[in-house]
Amino acid sequence: MANSTVYQSNIITIERHILAEQQIHPEATGVLTSILYDLALAGKFIVSQTTRAGLSEILGATEDINIQGETQMKLDQVADQTIIRLNDHTGRLAVMASEEHEHLLPIPNGFPVGKYVLLFDPLDGSSNIDYNATIGTIFAIYRRISSEGPGTLEDCLQPGNQLVVAGYMIYGSSTMLVYTSGSGVHGFTLDPMIGEFLLTHPNLHIPAKPKYYSVNHGNEVYWSQGVKKYTHWLQGLEGDRKPLSLRYIGSLVGDFHRTLLSGGVFYYPADWHDPSKLSGKLRLTYEAAPLSLIASQAGGYASDGEGDILNIHPISLHQRTGLYIGDRHLVEKAEEFIQRYDS
Ligand code: F6P
Repeated sequence: MANSTVYQSNIITIERHILAEQQIHPEATGVLTSILYDLALAGKFIVSQTTRAGLSEILGATEDINIQGETQMKLDQVADQTIIRLNDHTGRLAVMASEEHEHLLPIPNGFPVGKYVLLFDPLDGSSNIDYNATIGTIFAIYRRISSEGPGTLEDCLQPGNQLVVAGYMIYGSSTMLVYTSGSGVHGFTLDPMIGEFLLTHPNLHIPAKPKYYSVNHGNEVYWSQGVKKYTHWLQGLEGDRKPLSLRYIGSLVGDFHRTLLSGGVFYYPADWHDPSKLSGKLRLTYEAAPLSLIASQAGGYASDGEGDILNIHPISLHQRTGLYIGDRHLVEKAEEFIQRYDS
């Protein structure tokens, strides 16, 4: 009997894909490709820990408070250390910065220093860990600006429009890695049976018809007039548009990923939590900026409410920002409302 097994001829592993992307750039040395591959490996380590979390008794808070004033979860530390240890000795990076560390993470003495800079949020949405909800890792890679020696703060404080690679890994019902190196957005799903990320979502585009809006309504009391009016508009309470449905996880990677695939808008506006000043919650350098590059490469847009996130030049490592991200028209509409009611 003839063998009826059908072999797929187009299985593309993440390695094959990034090598193919590298060939588009004849000047590429393969260093960036290797960093991406190391990050994919880190993602596999992290998900192997997160999926075992309840079993290995590593759920729950540690004694430590990170610089954002949040209690660090053990898994945050596991993810943070995994990424650092896989990347600090390779000679590919000049310096790193992580949400979990107040200061820069220099390359340890004795190891070569490279030409790229890596900023990351090792385990985003960690307030969801105990509830088995989606969490993720966000990463941003820049070319260093300084010419030699250890990487500097200035190397890390570049606007998003200088990003070389931006991506995230999402640990949900499946594990995915989504990234852009400036030629489209590509998504890979981890096949747990073979331990490889396979290309499942090539050339992602935010769908033209928006499906959801996504925001923490519990903060409404702190919102400006413009944000309230904008939200009413999305809900069909103002103007003549049909209401959008609401989805909100409270995990940026999860909320962004859904927005990318389903269409719509996610926003975490600057608000009056602190009555002395309007301020955002999300971090510019390793949360908002990389996701903004992905959104723009997928045909969308991201704003702080006034202008393009990608044009903001950070002045500090853990700087916070308001963020509106997703469908271009919906994000521009937020800017319009804010301009009309708040300025
Ligand atoms: O960055 C921290 C974070 O957990 C994001 O992942 C998420 O979008 C946001 O905070 C949720 O904040 P809140 O609990 O205030 O809605």
